[in-house]
Amino acid sequence: MHLSRLKLRDFRNYVRLDAEFGPGCHVLLGNNAQGKTNILEAIYLLATLRSFRGCGGAQMIRQGAKGYFVGGSVEGQGVSEIKAYWSPKERKLSLNERPIRKLADYFGVLRAVVFCSEDLALVKGPAQGRRRFLDLLLAQTIPGYLPLLMRYAEALRSRNALLKQPVVDLVELDGFTQELVLAGESLITARQDFVPALAPRVQSAFRRIAVESDELALHYQPSVTGDFAVALSQSRARERALKTTVVGPHRDDLTLLVNDRAAAPYTSEGQKRTLAIALKLAQAEHLAAVYGTPPLLLIDDVMGELDTRRRSAFLPLLQQSFRAGGQVFMTCTEENWPRQLSCELLRWKVDKGHLAQWSE
Ligand SMILES: Nc1ncnc2c1ncn2[C@@H]1O[C@H](COP(=O)(O)OP(=O)(O)OP(=O)(O)O)[C@@H](O)[C@H]1O
Ligand SMILES: [Mg+2]
Repeated sequence: MHLSRLKLRDFRNYVRLDAEFGPGCHVLLGNNAQGKTNILEAIYLLATLRSFRGCGGAQMIRQGAKGYFVGGSVEGQGVSEIKAYWSPKERKLSLNERPIRKLADYFGVLRAVVFCSEDLALVKGPAQGRRRFLDLLLAQTIPGYLPLLMRYAEALRSRNALLKQPVVDLVELDGFTQELVLAGESLITARQDFVPALAPRVQSAFRRIAVESDELALHYQPSVTGDFAVALSQSRARERALKTTVVGPHRDDLTLLVNDRAAAPYTSEGQKRTLAIALKLAQAEHLAAVYGTPPLLLIDDVMGELDTRRRSAFLPLLQQSFRAGGQVFMTCTEENWPRQLSCELLRWKVDKGHLAQWSE
């Protein structure tokens, strides 16, 4: 699978960009603030309809413009044309000229894994980031997971809106509770089954890149351990007081332990970074294993931050990607990727919102 064409209009600092890419390793070179990360952001947006910077649509519209357009052609088994337009007033998403109404029908056209500085929040930040990481990978690999997640989110929204009313209609609350329990129990089961399968991949990646021989453990930490319906009824007083649903999969976490201690408060910055990269390497390796072809790898400036050992941890993944005809986009301010990278690098110059093939 590879992205053969990318078209941007009024996206970030790009007025217009039309680029064609083959498979292989594309290196986007340029000074700071020229638009390197913006290109990765646009590609990731085509894959997940989200920014990896955690910002909303409005921030991605070029200053002074009304809306942004991001389009792309994905070549895998056949060619898929994706078009996404976003403005505060209008959102359009189409696949092969057909409007997409259900997100689940779209998801998976382009599979991508991003390595970026925001990944550190997976270790340092709140549970939400780790839940998103889990949900994305589950949605990328298990058909039916995304619709389930959306069903749960919808029931949760309605239930929370009701809990905010001055007088709560108990019959209505019961209806939303039933829907929440149905979707929620399936989410819990899917996560429970998946984390033990993912853990060895993360541990193996961590072992390859960690400097010390630290032991990593990864556990699913559900908000509800027994019966979800019972837990909800037991939390009635608290949810009435707080006017929101206080238990359920929307409060789940993924516990990260290094040498049996919680990772966030006890590890160094370097260990945190190693752990964050291990999670992402595991995501990429899992996708490659499930689909038999590697996902697109979007590597944002990560090479510059890493020592030689951790840089070389990327090599097997990159090499596997080349062998399988995959595609990698790497951004750098200077040529600082591993020397052992034996493949042909396709160099691009990014300068003030313009992308051009590199010429010496
Ligand atoms: N909505 C927007 N409209 C116009 N310009 C924007 C918008 N959002 C960001 N920019 C501009 O895009 C540029 C940053 O682009 P980007 O983050 O891709 O830089 P970069 O090349 O990755 O730099 P670095 O090497 O520092 O990471 C900045 O000049 C910023 O002002
Ligand atoms: Mg950048």
